[in-house]
Amino acid sequence: MRSACIPESKLPEVGTTIFTVIGQLADEHDALNLSQGAPNFACDPKLIDSVEQAMRAGHNQYSPMSGVLALREAIADKTHALYGAQYDPGTEVTVVASASEGLYASISALVHPGDEVIYFEPSFDSYAPIVQLQGATPVAIKLSPATFQIDWDEVAAAITPKTRMILVNTPHNPTGSAFGAHNIERLKALTRGTQIVVLSDEV
Ligand SMILES: Cc1ncc(COP(=O)(O)O)c(C=O)c1O
Repeated sequence: MRSACIPESKLPEVGTTIFTVIGQLADEHDALNLSQGAPNFACDPKLIDSVEQAMRAGHNQYSPMSGVLALREAIADKTHALYGAQYDPGTEVTVVASASEGLYASISALVHPGDEVIYFEPSFDSYAPIVQLQGATPVAIKLSPATFQIDWDEVAAAITPKTRMILVNTPHNPTGSAFGAHNIERLKALTRGTQIVVLSDEV
């Protein structure tokens, strides 16, 4: 029921997420729910103990805006060990509560009204609504059926002076396809020397 004092939604066409729909159907039919990652194993007792210890030690206050320094340092070390990329934990690493929050914060900070954001479908369902909330236009490019690879010529053709961001998701949900060196090279070549920001959702 809509109350008279609730203003009209900015995105009236955005309904319930597919995860809620499938989750409810799976419960209803006692089916395996493959729509969301729900671990079917217990949490490691070491993690539970560590959380308990940290809370008993009083680590339950607001953290700095960009996250606890020890965590940012651990993230920078891990990124270096895995990818060889060196990031400064003081200025180049920010901890967020979820990928959704990181996506929202990044897109709303960088995308202006009238801009265009290229993304790939099928996609995680919050991308387009976040872009629309900025007064910008989401530009969807379909992944090639069967391989779910990106047609970079199509991306090149979709780039306009208004393109502000290309949002990539690798490994890709829901298909599982992942970028190889070829994809990175094409992305670099298309964005080098432009104002286009690459937002990489590697959740
Ligand atoms: C591709 C993709 N991006 C973002 C998210 C959101 O992640 P989070 O639950 O950390 O907000 C998900 C969650 O499944 C996802 O699959």
